[in-house]
Formats: sequence, C-alpha cells, structure tokens
Amino acid sequence: MKEGKGKRLFINEVATRDGFQMESRFIPTDDKIALVDRLGTLGYAKIEVTSFTSAKAIPALRDGEEVMQRIVRQPGVVYTALVPNLRGAERALESRIGEFNVVMSVSETHNLSNLRMTREQSFAQLAEVIALARQAGVPVNVSLSCVFGCPMEGEVPLAGVLEWIDRFAALQVQGVTLCDTTGMAFPTQVQALCEAVMARHPGLQWTAHFHNTRGMGLANVLAAVEAGIERLDMSLGGIGGCPYAPGATGNVATEDVVHMLQCMGYDTGMDLNGLIDAASELEALVQHDLPSQVPRAGHRLTRHAPPADFNDIAARAHARRAKELNP
Ligand code: COA
Ligand code: ZN
Repeated sequence: MKEGKGKRLFINEVATRDGFQMESRFIPTDDKIALVDRLGTLGYAKIEVTSFTSAKAIPALRDGEEVMQRIVRQPGVVYTALVPNLRGAERALESRIGEFNVVMSVSETHNLSNLRMTREQSFAQLAEVIALARQAGVPVNVSLSCVFGCPMEGEVPLAGVLEWIDRFAALQVQGVTLCDTTGMAFPTQVQALCEAVMARHPGLQWTAHFHNTRGMGLANVLAAVEAGIERLDMSLGGIGGCPYAPGATGNVATEDVVHMLQCMGYDTGMDLNGLIDAASELEALVQHDLPSQVPRAGHRLTRHAPPADFNDIAARAHARRAKELNP
C-alpha cells in the first residue's frame, strides 16, 4: 500500500443532510445553522446542508429553505443540497444553492421505495432539473444510490450502473457520486467499480459515499482512494442513513476517515481537532452516542498516564532484575 505523500483529497460533509434525515429528534433550525456555520471553517470542499424533499417523506429537513438562507457561506466551500425532483430544484434555486445534488437509485425497487417514481420517471424529472440548473448557471452532481448493491434486490449488475452513468454523462453533469446506501460494498468491488467508471468517463468529477453498516467503511474509503477517487462524502459522528432503505445505518465518520487519511500522509485540508470538538457538539444535539471512534479514543498519539502504582511496579521489576544479574 502506497503512502498518501501529500496527495490532495476533497472532503464533503453530509451530516446535516444524510445524518439529520435519519434522526428521530427534530434538530432545531437555529442549531442546524450554527453547526453548518461551524463546519464551514474546518476545511471542507463541500457541505451538503439539507435536502429539498417533501416534508412528508423527510420531516427532519422541512426547514431546508431557512437553513440554506441563513447560513454564513465561507469562500471556497460549496454549499449543496439533495434534490429529488423539479419542485425540489425550484426550492433549491430560491435558496441560492451552490450546486444541485440530484438523486436517484440504480435499483428500481429502492427508487420506487425512496422517491415513489420508477427510475425512468426519476431520470425524466432530473433531466428537466439539469436543464433548469444549466439556465441558472448552477453545477449539477448526481448521487446514484445502491451502486454497490440494493438491500431489497441484492446484487446490482455493473452493466446497469454504467448505463445510468452514461445517460447522465450525456446530459453533461459535472460529477457523479457512487453511493453505497446500506454498506454493501467491499474493497475489491469498490476498486473495480471505481476504476471502471473513471476510465469510461475521465472528465467527470467522481465522489465516493460509503456507509459503515458492516464495518467495511474505512476499508472501502481506502480502496476508492487507491483507485484514484479524490472526493469523499462522510458524516460527522458517523450518523446517517436513508429512511427508505431497510437496514440503513450511518455514513463513515468524518473524524475517523480524516484521522486515518492524515496518518497516511494525505492532505485533506481538514482541521481534525476542530472536527472532534464539533462532534461533541453534535452528540449534544442528537442526544445519543455517536458511532465514531476517534473522539472517544483521541488521535493515535494521544498519550495516557501509566497506572497509579507504576513507580512501585517499575522499582520491583528493576530490583528483581538487579538480583538476577548479581545473585
Ligand atoms: N419539496 C416539497 N414538497 C414536495 C416536493 C419537494 N421536492 N415534491 C413534492 N412535494 C409535495 C407536493 O407539492 C405534494 O404536496 P401536496 O400533497 O400538498 O399537494 C406532495 O409533496 C406530493 O407530491 P408528489 O409529487 O406526489 O410526491 P410523492 O408523494 O410521490 O413523493 C418525492 C415524491 C420525491 C417528493 C418524495 O418521495 C421525497 O421527497 N423523497 C425523498 C426521499 C429522501 O430524501 N430519501 C433520503 C435520501 S436518499
Ligand atoms: Zn447516504
């Protein structure tokens, strides 16, 4: 495995969208805004602030307009939001969105469950959204759910995935996010899929999006990065999940991923201590333990005091050793 050697990676935060959509407690609008404002100073390339979905489908994010309008936008950070249809695109435009993150699933069953449309119906809506975005001069990224497998259909054939990517590429979107919606991806699959899509469409901006449902999240991140992926979605604290994908759990945790990548010498541009502080604020907001590990354990070089009776232990051991040497 090669070291990072200063290679620049771009980190996208999704906690306030993928994370909050899955929380049972409604996070107050002011708290959402304060968190986005704090995250804006920590080095992210992109923050997915909210989604413009139906309030019935995703009640947790029904305040999308207000959040988007009141956040303080830092230069250099792209403030994006998830958009499932034309109505969502209109709301997003009114909210001065920096980029559309349009969404559909490559699994027919998941698309119907999540978006209440067939994939063809979704594609037709999103084609209109893309046209609207072009008129407005707003870039479009496409998040494709279930590209590594569907919790209801099982394996999703690669040929189908490539076909959907080809169709969006033909509409000249800026980028595509490969989403592992319920942590079904495994590292060799990730590497093969990432290499295949990047070779096929080298001009597209590629992002990988992993959930840690089966503990393979960090391994999948590494596999993607080794395959050449430079952009990664992740969620502070490791919260997240699609409410319409059975068995969904949190995204890979930003602080855990950033810690690992920094140890390996990658340049993430991120403030790790700032992330750990923000995670503790997030824990207070969601009112439950977070799945992430680095805030609990600290950085790998975090030093702990030896046991209280360490001096006695050491003295006894040294005395024994002295006796052994001079019996
Ligand atoms: N924002 C706000 N309201 C919306 C909306 C949007 N983007 N799209 C539709 N609506 C409203 C309609 O105006 C309509 O309102 P009404 O009942 O007051 O007339 C109602 O929602 C139903 O509209 P319809 O077009 O029939 O939508 P639907 O019920 O078939 O739902 C989606 C389709 C896509 C809007 C909905 O399934 C959705 O928002 N899904 C998002 C799921 C998600 O975010 N999952 C996690 C991320 S992967
Ligand atoms: Zn997700």
